[in-house]
Amino acid sequence: MTKKPTDVDVSTVWWLGTDGPEHYDFAKLYGNENPVELDLGCGKGLFLFNQSRLRPEVNFIGIDWSKQFSRLGASRIVRHNIPNVRIVAADAWNLFARFPDCCFQAIHVYFPDPWWKKRHRKRRIVRAELIEHVRRLLKPDGTLFIATDVEEYFGVMLEVLGASPYLIRLPDPTPSEGANELDYLTHFERKYRKVGKPIFRAAYALNPSPTHPSESQVSLSTTDK
Ligand SMILES: C[S@@+](CC[C@H](N)C(=O)[O-])C[C@H]1O[C@@H](n2cnc3c(N)ncnc32)[C@H](O)[C@@H]1O
Repeated sequence: MTKKPTDVDVSTVWWLGTDGPEHYDFAKLYGNENPVELDLGCGKGLFLFNQSRLRPEVNFIGIDWSKQFSRLGASRIVRHNIPNVRIVAADAWNLFARFPDCCFQAIHVYFPDPWWKKRHRKRRIVRAELIEHVRRLLKPDGTLFIATDVEEYFGVMLEVLGASPYLIRLPDPTPSEGANELDYLTHFERKYRKVGKPIFRAAYALNPSPTHPSESQVSLSTTDK
């Protein structure tokens, strides 16, 4: 008989942020030097489940502050004996400082909560403060991926990310075919595509030669003279 998700021992794959390492050493964590990708707000972990099997040469770490969802995702990883996924139940903002510089080949932010109420908007994951973390944590040739069904939030994300001299927009990622129940990027993508909602996607690279905002100010004022 299959064990209930809550009965599966997930201790090798899943932990609370406060119980995890103070300083993450990914080579030690996965036992290899493979590139690592971060799924920010991984929910029940369909992205981690699919991608870890499709790309066994990549390590994945998911963060979600929902203990229930992240643990559920971890139980599937354990049941399928998937070696290259770890999941942390934590507020991502409290975990970033524990990761080393330039440690992620990709950062995925899929269907981040839109926080509809104006007074809650500051809780949105994709906001100006995220860019500092992305700059520090992404490898120089790394990629930031975003997707959402919320057009208004997508517009805000493009504005915030587009205003940064440190990021360059890449061609938009291509959706999967949705050929079967598992052929979706995430649980939320599946839910929305099945009811025909449009999905908005974008990808960014780090700008190798950013012009610091204060430098453009300086050159402007020099030209003005
Ligand atoms: C709308 S769900 C999307 C889940 C998944 N990415 C998907 O597409 O199916 C957003 C997720 O982000 C998580 N989340 C929101 N803010 C977070 C934060 N500050 N730290 C960690 N997780 C967060 C929520 O718990 C939720 O599971």
